[in-house]
Amino acid sequence: MEFLDSALEAYILAHTSPESEILRQLHRETYMKVLQPRMLSGHLQGRVLSMLVHMVKPLNVLEIGTYTGYSALCMAEGLPEGGHIDTIDINEEIIPLVSRYIALSGNENRITAHIGNALDILPRLDKKFDLVFIDADKTNYLNYYHLVFDQLPVGGHIIADNVLWSGKILDPDEIKNDPDTRALAEFNEYVMNDQRVENVLFPVRDGLMIIRKKKNE
Ligand SMILES: C[S@@+](CC[C@H](N)C(=O)[O-])C[C@H]1O[C@@H](n2cnc3c(N)ncnc32)[C@H](O)[C@@H]1O
Repeated sequence: MEFLDSALEAYILAHTSPESEILRQLHRETYMKVLQPRMLSGHLQGRVLSMLVHMVKPLNVLEIGTYTGYSALCMAEGLPEGGHIDTIDINEEIIPLVSRYIALSGNENRITAHIGNALDILPRLDKKFDLVFIDADKTNYLNYYHLVFDQLPVGGHIIADNVLWSGKILDPDEIKNDPDTRALAEFNEYVMNDQRVENVLFPVRDGLMIIRKKKNE
């Protein structure tokens, strides 16, 4: 399901700052060479992520789900002096492409790409994160939320992508029969009832749940 009428979407993009030439190249190369290119955040969501990082100024960012690095490069634009991004992906085939674009964008010292299952890597990252972007396998969204929650200071943020799942989140049959839809529905309900946070579901692209930690307990 497309949430926006195509003319409205074109207008929104025409009135949103353009992506950089490097991001445009990465977008093009991903669509030419990599499977499932629709996973890439793209122009509008990329600008939203860049803007949010500029606004929040997180010193340490964690991304779960690098893919070809588009969202990591967008978030890197907004990092304050000394800021850093750790990004994790299970697919080692993407390493050469991701490394090349991290270098092209001059972010070698600001982005560390970890390869492996995020469920294994997360407990080993002994670090506090001010902002976490969850954008990997949907069935583990709640596991990622629980794993990173204690590593997030009060006032820290979590952003979870795809929480509308092309509108399937409204379909009881999908929730019953499709594990991804069910996991996302459970994630959204859990966050909504979690008294430790406040949250807004932004209808950007496929749905961004933006969460602010209010307290530890
Ligand atoms: C939607 S894509 C990420 C898109 C990227 N954040 C962007 O906006 O351009 C999801 C990525 O999660 C990765 N992934 C899936 N399961 C994972 C896991 N258990 N641990 C780490 N990465 C995983 C996939 O390999 C895929 O590259």
